[in-house]
Amino acid sequence: MHRRTPRARDLAPLLRFKQPTWSPKERRLERSLTVEDLRRVAKRRTPRAAFDYTDGAADSEVSLARAREAFADVEFRPAILRDVSAVDTSREVLGQRVALPFGIAPTGFTRMMQTEGEIAGATAAEAAGIPYSLSTMGTTSIEDVAAAAPGGRHWFQLYMWKDRERSMALVDRAAKAGYDTLLVTVDVPVAGARLRDVRNGMTIPPTLTPRTVANALPRPAWWINFLTTEPLAFASLDSWSGTVAELLDTMFDPSVTYDDLVWIRDQWPGKVVVKGVQTVDDARRCADLGVDAVLLSNHGGRQLDRAPVPFHLLPEVVAAVGEDVEVHLDTGIMSGQDVVAAVAHGARFTLIGRAYLYGLMAGGRDGVDRVIDILRGQVERTMRLLGVSTLDELNPDHVVQLVRREPRRP
Ligand SMILES: Cc1cc2nc3c(=O)[nH]c(=O)nc-3n(C[C@H](O)[C@H](O)[C@H](O)COP(=O)(O)O)c2cc1C
Repeated sequence: MHRRTPRARDLAPLLRFKQPTWSPKERRLERSLTVEDLRRVAKRRTPRAAFDYTDGAADSEVSLARAREAFADVEFRPAILRDVSAVDTSREVLGQRVALPFGIAPTGFTRMMQTEGEIAGATAAEAAGIPYSLSTMGTTSIEDVAAAAPGGRHWFQLYMWKDRERSMALVDRAAKAGYDTLLVTVDVPVAGARLRDVRNGMTIPPTLTPRTVANALPRPAWWINFLTTEPLAFASLDSWSGTVAELLDTMFDPSVTYDDLVWIRDQWPGKVVVKGVQTVDDARRCADLGVDAVLLSNHGGRQLDRAPVPFHLLPEVVAAVGEDVEVHLDTGIMSGQDVVAAVAHGARFTLIGRAYLYGLMAGGRDGVDRVIDILRGQVERTMRLLGVSTLDELNPDHVVQLVRREPRRP
């Protein structure tokens, strides 16, 4: 081998000094290349009870693990030699164009995860051209969310009470504030067993005990934000002090039935989505009642553990009701590849819950922007690599579900 002395001229092109990023938040977000990366940052920065409330699921958390595993078990079948120089990630969802095939799922107590809470989600969604869903258990009011993102598309999630006046008061406010879609959540007759919350003694608002104080010390930013902003409260409900499970069990009504769904459908002037459909029969029944979409979801694994995996259920439901209603899907989505797989199997639209909350906890509004950017990049790249330039070109031939757990079909 012949060696020579390196010359300055040879080294110069190798030296690429990037402009340093001074803001620690920007640095954290820039370095996060995936939703999992953001989750790790979120965990470092958020008190344990709030992080676990978000990250955790019911009982042994099998539903969530299986939903994520189902996406991991996708095998893509790319088409080659297609012109993918331009890709279009937009489509019609419930009568209006959305820029991306995913939106933000309703999540309760959002200001507890990070103080910018619902406003961060709604404004980031507005900027990205995707819908934002506000939960009944939101910590910012219906009207404040609408005012913060006046050009955005807002959906309202309703937990139905037997007390129709109470349900109606919220539905009225959402309609008046311009929300165009009602997500009626039907998978919470009672609260799921969120064991991490029980073990953490999680309360709303968080209580200061020697353990929570010890856990708070390395996370000063969260506490400073928490203590110097509006006290945490349910914006649409009466105030509450107690555990989450106690609140849920007081609020939810196990006697709600299809009759109540029909009643709500008749009150709401906009589109109706039934959130939490988990069998083909129920999807058929909802479609027959004339709702606009069914959302296949097991509530991110937070309700019935070992519930059906929405992604597995999707092809059968699309075959049964896809002509009559839109079929949407959530639970387990952690990447743009997951979104593309769901769309290929017939989902009109998808929602992200934890994925956006990890971004929120990692960096407030900027963190939610970062999650959306990451997912957008992954959706676009996966579409190109599959050889499609529009979402409508995606079809079941692009995705094979590898079977890890038999039997998959009833
Ligand atoms: C912290 C948290 C709070 C949630 N709160 C609500 C809620 O108030 N109403 C509701 O219908 N769904 C709620 N969900 C469920 C989400 O809307 C969605 O179905 C779920 O997060 C999807 O799964 P993913 O987190 O894997 O994306 C919540 C989920 C999380 C993680």
